[in-house]
Amino acid sequence: MSIIDELESLKAETLARIADAADLAVLDAVRVEVLGKKGSLTGVLRGLGALPAEDRPAVGKASNEVRTALEQALDERKALLADVALSARVAADAIDVTLPGRKRLPGRKHLINQITDEVVDIFTGLGYAVAEGPEAELDYYNFTALNHPPTHPARSATDTFYVRDLSEEVPGQTGPVTDVLLRTHTSPVQVRVMERQKPPVYVIVPGRVYRRDIADPSHLPQFHQIEGLAVDEGITFGDLKGTLDYVCKELFGKDRKTRFRPHFFPFTEPSAEVDVSCGICAGSGCRFCKYTGWQEILGCGMVDPNVFGYVDIDPEVHTGFAFGMGVERIAALRYDIPDLRMLVEGDMRFLRQF
Ligand code: DAH
Repeated sequence: MSIIDELESLKAETLARIADAADLAVLDAVRVEVLGKKGSLTGVLRGLGALPAEDRPAVGKASNEVRTALEQALDERKALLADVALSARVAADAIDVTLPGRKRLPGRKHLINQITDEVVDIFTGLGYAVAEGPEAELDYYNFTALNHPPTHPARSATDTFYVRDLSEEVPGQTGPVTDVLLRTHTSPVQVRVMERQKPPVYVIVPGRVYRRDIADPSHLPQFHQIEGLAVDEGITFGDLKGTLDYVCKELFGKDRKTRFRPHFFPFTEPSAEVDVSCGICAGSGCRFCKYTGWQEILGCGMVDPNVFGYVDIDPEVHTGFAFGMGVERIAALRYDIPDLRMLVEGDMRFLRQF
């Protein structure tokens, strides 16, 4: 076979392979195999030197034509394959604009914060100021200055989270000595406020509190309270009743009644628990209010003169009332929430309802 024939058959065979190349990788392999440094076209031309001089121009020309034809065919095929690859990618990435979109829910306040804000608004409307205190509190403010005797059961380490145990620093001490705890109520802020500010005092104190309870439908180890304190000249139990009755009607509805049951708290005297008429049965008795017609919602009383003693306020001149309510409890009563744990689980199916 003459070199010219060899070139022609290499061209025909390579054009066929180019036309068959299914992707860019195969096509490039064909290019390297034929036109590369060690390619077959280069191999054929290596035989050129052995030819008689007069034949060389014709073979040289023929080989150039073959190379040009192959390069052109490679370029065209490459463009076509690139096009096909692009179309395939576009098709794979295509967005179906007819599919329904994913809804983005706007953020909102947690129910506990909504209720807290609502209660704070009611009281600021009555002229109260907002006060706050630390969650890691001194035993002095949480218990001692609130007139709790040293043996009060709430002081036990099974009821209260203690932060610091000083027993090793106190020579000769056997039992635990603790002075810092996670506050068990917002009442210590009463003492902190009265230390700084002399009457008239009208404050509302929202905050987080802690007790060593296992979480169950009606208990959480961490929950929220709102404390109130009013100290002035001539404050009476009647003022306390009028204020709390008004607030309960604002919170639960004008049709609700309140009742004050005698109770005991170390820091108030007299003390009471306040019930609101049951919202489910309107007071006639149902499973929800355990057939009493009433639901308990807060504790309150007249500030004990002993507490005034700790903050240097003269109980002969000033009197005051105080109260404390649980925010989770208000939420549960208002929305019939059967399990307080739902308030801390963060399940959007629940939280979205409020
Ligand atoms: N601190 C009480 C508690 O956590 C609630 C309370 C009762 C607060 C009577 C008061 C009050 O200010 O006067 O159970």
